[in-house]
Amino acid sequence: MVKAVVAGASGGIGQPLSLLLKTCPLISELSLYDVVNTPGVAADLSHISSPAVVKGYVPTDFKDAAQSAASMKEAFTGADIIIIPAGVPRKPGMTRDDLFKINAGIVKGLITAVAETCPKAFILIISNPVNSTVPIAAEVLKAKGVFDPKRLFGVTTLDVVRAETFVAGIVGEKNPGKLTIPVIGGHSGETIVPLISQAKPSVNIAGEELDKLTYRIQFGGDEVVKAKDGAGSATLSMAYAGYRFAEKVIKAVSGESGIVEPSFVYLPGIEGGEEIHKLTGCDFFSVPIELGPSGAQKAINVVKSANDYEKKLLEACYKGLNGNIAKGVEFARA
Ligand code: NAI
Repeated sequence: MVKAVVAGASGGIGQPLSLLLKTCPLISELSLYDVVNTPGVAADLSHISSPAVVKGYVPTDFKDAAQSAASMKEAFTGADIIIIPAGVPRKPGMTRDDLFKINAGIVKGLITAVAETCPKAFILIISNPVNSTVPIAAEVLKAKGVFDPKRLFGVTTLDVVRAETFVAGIVGEKNPGKLTIPVIGGHSGETIVPLISQAKPSVNIAGEELDKLTYRIQFGGDEVVKAKDGAGSATLSMAYAGYRFAEKVIKAVSGESGIVEPSFVYLPGIEGGEEIHKLTGCDFFSVPIELGPSGAQKAINVVKSANDYEKKLLEACYKGLNGNIAKGVEFARA
């Protein structure tokens, strides 16, 4: 039984994600932190008849640094897993990188509190731009002397979920969840690289159809941003994806074996990661990760089997991703 924390719990992702976590029988305590509205969200969820005891935490004055820190400390203490969807979402015409200015500071503040209160917790970062916020988190944890690469994950599951859904639509598979499709690299536009050639079961998609599919997986988030017309980005599908990844981490930590899901991790710090690091030249990269009791147990090298089409996509990915990573590292060190 674990204590799970959601930071950013009152938001568009935070609320449905907290709802899904509340239904998880492996969670005994669910701590909801946000700068607004968590008492209401917690009261509402607490009436659901599942084991998790729900508590909401909000700083009475979040502009007061000491008050904010005290409230975060209370919310985070004893956490086994902390999931972070705090921050502003995109509006039409924005890229994920446009969010950097605001979200980088939010993530830095939250991770500082994590380092001080629950340094052993598994940290799942949803806040965009993931390509930069995860390196920021790593730098903050390093500076505090508590960085464990096996416990820090950027959540890229929504790209995997989209790939399963879009491919299933093309090949006529009625249950998209039956497909396994590695989506690797980063989490924005061209840094997202679907490896359709490694789909299981294998699928036959080529030519213009493959181009369109690849573009749709890379830029699928834009469809939602456009349809929401200024009211934000993906929240419900993200809550599903965030829960799917969190549940896998919790199950692996609880002893279930054979669980694999792609995630954006610090490659040199994970078994098998150094080999992928050499191929990609990227410190942080999303690849299928075998999860275990201590978190990211092994990085699986699917990069080496990429075909020529995918190798071209990877070249574009490396360039953009390394820039995003450097930006995060620079911000955290400043
Ligand atoms: P939202 O604006 O609906 O919710 C964000 C929540 O964060 C708000 O409740 C806000 O009060 C809270 N917040 C702001 N500063 C905070 C702080 N310092 N501490 C705690 N909470 C704080 O936004 P939404 O739609 O839920 O998106 C959240 C983030 O998730 C965005 O950065 C978005 O880009 C990202 N996202 C990531 C995806 C992924 O695949 N990794 C997919 C979709 C969105």
